[in-house]
Amino acid sequence: MMALLWVTLAILSLVAMNAPQGSLAADDDPLQDFCVKDTTQALHVNGFPCKDPAQVQDSDFASAVLKNRGNTSNGLGVAVTAANVLSFGGLNTQGVSLARINFAKNGINPPHLHPRAAELLYLAKGKLLVGFVTSNAENKLFAQTIKAGELFIFPKGLVHFQLNVGHRKALAFSSFNSQNPGTSQVAKALFTSTPSINDTVLEKALQLNPQDVTRLRSLISKT
Ligand SMILES: *[C@@H]1O[C@H](CO)[C@@H](O)[C@H](O)[C@H]1NC(C)=O
Ligand SMILES: *[C@@H]1O[C@H](CO)[C@@H](O)[C@H](O)[C@H]1NC(C)=O
Repeated sequence: MMALLWVTLAILSLVAMNAPQGSLAADDDPLQDFCVKDTTQALHVNGFPCKDPAQVQDSDFASAVLKNRGNTSNGLGVAVTAANVLSFGGLNTQGVSLARINFAKNGINPPHLHPRAAELLYLAKGKLLVGFVTSNAENKLFAQTIKAGELFIFPKGLVHFQLNVGHRKALAFSSFNSQNPGTSQVAKALFTSTPSINDTVLEKALQLNPQDVTRLRSLISKT
């Protein structure tokens, strides 16, 4: 009996040593069927409080936010429309969201990253040059030109971009394994933060002269 117990304990400890530490999935799994975002409470939690299930309606699970083409008349020629928990309360606790990306001819979705999600892009129309750069010292670029009907995966948290290289407009849809993936635009984060990053930091970090910093701040704030 004692021997069996020791063998069992030894096996269990081996299993524990090899088991992954915690889940590597994105948002936490829901603990109930749904938790439609309650917009009436100012309470701050990780996510949003749930609407009273008795008040939840069929329409809470539907959204038209991606129905219309985004306006690409801007310096970058891109419009990203997000169906995330902020615009679609039924996504609360579900760990998923979707974005519509419209590109004008030559439009660019500039280098950015999503701190909380991987992005799976489906190109519905057009041709895009897409790519991401790995972290750490490698700084390796993985890039592809993709055509309508094709997919590309941008790993979680890595800097990536999409450039329209086709002869007309392009349309993509991107899914995220987070209800609120977040977006950090690299250039905007550095040059248009509030308050501003001290010029000396940018000059030294990017080997720029003071005039370059002023010029970049002005150019990037217009995009
Ligand atoms: C698109 O945005 C531009 C620039 O802000 C604006 O002038 C134009 O009226 C917008 N077009 C539509 C259809 O909303
Ligand atoms: C920026 O940093 C430099 C160098 O430390 C300093 O002299 C300057 O006063 C700082 N400017 C601001 C606005 O904090």
